[in-house]
Amino acid sequence: MQKIIATYPTGISPDNKHPFLNGLFKPNEDEYFATSASMKVIGEIPKDLWGIYARNTHNQVHESIGLYHPFDGDGMIHAMHFEEGKATYRNRFVQTTGFLAEQAAGKSLWPGILSPQMYTRRGWGSMGAMKDNAGTDVLCHAGKLLVSMSQGSEPWRMDPITLETLGPDANWSRNIPDGVASHYKVDPATGEMIFFNYPEKSPHMNYGVINKDNQLVHYVPIDLPGARWPHDIGMTKNYSILHDLPFFFDEELLKQGTRRIKFHRDIPARFGIIPRHGTSDQIRWFEGTPCHILHIANCYESGDEVIMDACIMPNPHKPNVGGHGTQTLEDGYAKIRAHLDKHNNPTYMYRWRFNLKTGETKEQQIDDEITEFPVMSNDYVGRAYRYSYNVLYQKGEWLFRGLKRYDMDTGKMEVYEYGPGRYGSEPQIARRIGAVAEDDGYLLTYVNDANTNTSECVILDASAISKGPIARIILPHRISVGTHACWVEGDRITGELRDKKYIPEA
Ligand SMILES: [Fe+2]
Repeated sequence: MQKIIATYPTGISPDNKHPFLNGLFKPNEDEYFATSASMKVIGEIPKDLWGIYARNTHNQVHESIGLYHPFDGDGMIHAMHFEEGKATYRNRFVQTTGFLAEQAAGKSLWPGILSPQMYTRRGWGSMGAMKDNAGTDVLCHAGKLLVSMSQGSEPWRMDPITLETLGPDANWSRNIPDGVASHYKVDPATGEMIFFNYPEKSPHMNYGVINKDNQLVHYVPIDLPGARWPHDIGMTKNYSILHDLPFFFDEELLKQGTRRIKFHRDIPARFGIIPRHGTSDQIRWFEGTPCHILHIANCYESGDEVIMDACIMPNPHKPNVGGHGTQTLEDGYAKIRAHLDKHNNPTYMYRWRFNLKTGETKEQQIDDEITEFPVMSNDYVGRAYRYSYNVLYQKGEWLFRGLKRYDMDTGKMEVYEYGPGRYGSEPQIARRIGAVAEDDGYLLTYVNDANTNTSECVILDASAISKGPIARIILPHRISVGTHACWVEGDRITGELRDKKYIPEA
């Protein structure tokens, strides 16, 4: 069975030349439902693969106010639900207040991240000016998807099976006026979720904990020296790790209302380690090499140390392309492309060790190849783990040409490339039913094929990615390129009920 559930016609001019609104990035208008019996399957869907792979996408509907940035588009979730050797595909918009208001108006009502000064109504994000597009992150907690925007939006809940938007979280969204930023983490043993936000106004960061029953049980201000631009948060069994990184707006210009992001290369990176339910005065700050960080692979405790593995950006900057002053649209497109090209702003797998006894930080670069979007098994979040799966970038593009698997114990690395013109999403690890080893299961991603203008869900062996796909499920339509994804284990679809046998000791 295969059918279009709904269509949201685009208001974007067909004549536009924006590189992130055309080709592989062309937004989708249709919401589909399709069973694997109706889709072409190359290979066999494993019978011990049980759960939901859901990926978020910035899927713009209307002509933008100001220059469109690929982090502005309306959230759209593409989900593949696996059970007993079969799969069901669905894609649906996140029906945020902003999405519905713009549907009613038939046009954009909020500017994007590049033009916050053009706002005419209160919005979201750390600047308070953007639409709450909820197009960045997706994770499952308490039996519902939680979807948000990187700069901070309301915590949008969706049914993981039907992808129906249930609204801002009914239990606790009203108690956190600054919303949630991507990203958040769930403790597989306790079902607790940690989150943060980073408003431009004081205290510049707030940190909170939601319990397994979806109640806000902790919310504290984190006083930072000024407005910051953090992106991720780390979790161990007992602590949370907060980022105060020296890549933030020029403070003098910000006072005048102009936001110009700048790398303050003489200011150390700071990492705040706070007991999971700790108060602001219990936070301990560690210093490190000046850098920016987008995504953490994992954190865990080892003796006196807290270990954080993440991708370091040692020299974040805006490449000088596209000219200055009055610009053409093409100049603007060139700037966005150059800024998102990780080969201009390299990121490397990196390990920090924070010694709780001595206050010392030790650092080690793991690899000199450019990788990002590190992911590992949900079952090992906050625990000693072994494998991180990172994406490899196509030079000159915001596209993922392959995957690299790091064995953090042995240092062994393994690569799988999708092939010419084929680009993946953030993968997820789906441990198989009965898994004992950490990598006993599958690696899932969506791949876009520019040669055939098609999209597919690819299933790899998580213990041997270089062997290539076990199965490929061709989707009923080409889907726009997206990044962040999550895996919802079958026993977590209806709540935080993960079988404890899968979770290692912290
Ligand atoms: Fe992210």
